[in-house]
Amino acid sequence: MSLLQRVEAKEITVGVVGLGYVGLPLAVAFGEVGINVLGFEVSQPKIDALNRGESYVLDVAADQVAALRAAGLLEATGDFDRLKDCDAISVCVPTPLRKTRDPDLTYILEATRQIAARLRPNQVIILESTTYPGTTLEVVAPALGESGLKVGEDVFLAFSPERIDPGNPVYGVENTPKIIGGVTPECTAIASALYGHIVNQVYPVSSPTAAEMVKLLENTFRAVNIGLVNEIAIISEKLKLDVWEIIAAAATKPFGYMPFYPGPGLGGHCIPIDPHYLSWKLRTLNYRTRFIELAEDINSSMPNYVVDRVSFALNQVGKPIRGAKLMILGAAYKRDISDWRESPAIPVIEGLLARGGEVDYEDQYVPEIFLSDGARLTATPLDYATLARYDCVVIITDHRYYEAAQILASAQKIVDTRNLLGALAAGDERVVKL
Ligand SMILES: NC(=O)c1ccc[n+]([C@@H]2O[C@H](COP(=O)([O-])OP(=O)(O)OC[C@H]3O[C@@H](n4cnc5c(N)ncnc54)[C@H](O)[C@@H]3O)[C@@H](O)[C@H]2O)c1
Repeated sequence: MSLLQRVEAKEITVGVVGLGYVGLPLAVAFGEVGINVLGFEVSQPKIDALNRGESYVLDVAADQVAALRAAGLLEATGDFDRLKDCDAISVCVPTPLRKTRDPDLTYILEATRQIAARLRPNQVIILESTTYPGTTLEVVAPALGESGLKVGEDVFLAFSPERIDPGNPVYGVENTPKIIGGVTPECTAIASALYGHIVNQVYPVSSPTAAEMVKLLENTFRAVNIGLVNEIAIISEKLKLDVWEIIAAAATKPFGYMPFYPGPGLGGHCIPIDPHYLSWKLRTLNYRTRFIELAEDINSSMPNYVVDRVSFALNQVGKPIRGAKLMILGAAYKRDISDWRESPAIPVIEGLLARGGEVDYEDQYVPEIFLSDGARLTATPLDYATLARYDCVVIITDHRYYEAAQILASAQKIVDTRNLLGALAAGDERVVKL
């Protein structure tokens, strides 16, 4: 049987390298359609948790992991020699930025090295980590080629961007179409057959580089539109208009407009980071990506804008930030998730601390955070009665559990960056909206 036939018949073992926010849901999706999955991790606590049948990713229930463990369909391991046992290998390792804001491919390089060292004929490798256009062909393919096996003949390689939206109750792995770009048509066919088992729709493109670019278009589109609407928020404030009213009205147009919402800044592992991968690549081609840079300028200034709004709110009651008791509600970068990487809550807190504010934060999903100087803050359990003791409450993340009416009843001054209080707050002079 060819590899394609075995993939189609599910007579394969799938390896998932990197079991984080992306890799774990993917591993579980394969397991749940009856495919044997081996997960490779460098974090021993994650390996142990999964093998005990537990989950550390909110979108994956412990019951799902436990059921797959009981069925013998999922195992986590740090033994990379077992990559040899896998017919298909999906790579879901981090792609952060260096301090200089250049791409950091360390994790992709390390995972590729681990795979290349054990490569055998009839394996398909799929890179899922978000990266700049050209990575699969220019970096991964040559590294795999060093094994002596020919990519496209002996082994197969494709790029397929992960599009997961953590915390999204509607769209998950299954109902989000999967883009696939193989090095050769056969690579695309094998990878498509593989993902066809877990997603409703597979959408092939002409090359891995095209697939890499699709992901960066999607995320740059978001970064630029969020930058635009953040500027509209600033403009609206200058015009003494309510930006939320303007957006709600514009969103009634059934064509040609798609609402984006302002906020305290970008967060997470994707939108603030991915466009830099594209800018970096284009810099090597002597081209400046102006939209990306402008959006970055505006989005990264939003935490400071929130600090200004806090200052404005306190000023109305004759208080400076220095010495004020401030409560930050929400540390994650968006609601109902525990991921606080790149969260704008951090620069907002740092800005308030730098001005002498006394800052506490609350987030049911984030028990502790670390500021850039390494300082550790732990969450203060939320008690609506105690909110009254704060001079200002700043709503950063609209975790659904916050009950707007109670916040209004108990807080002194409120800076609402998410319009959570919306209509409730209309006319309430305690509330300053973004
Ligand atoms: N989180 C998202 O919402 C999201 C969405 C789409 C795409 N992505 C992209 O997917 C990729 C992974 O993101 P994530 O959020 O899952 O990251 P993550 O940090 O949650 O998970 C990555 C995992 O890989 C492990 N790891 C690192 N090096 C390894 C190695 N050599 N071998 C095995 N495991 C290794 C880490 O320990 C970690 O558990 C990134 O490129 C990211 O940009 C993320």
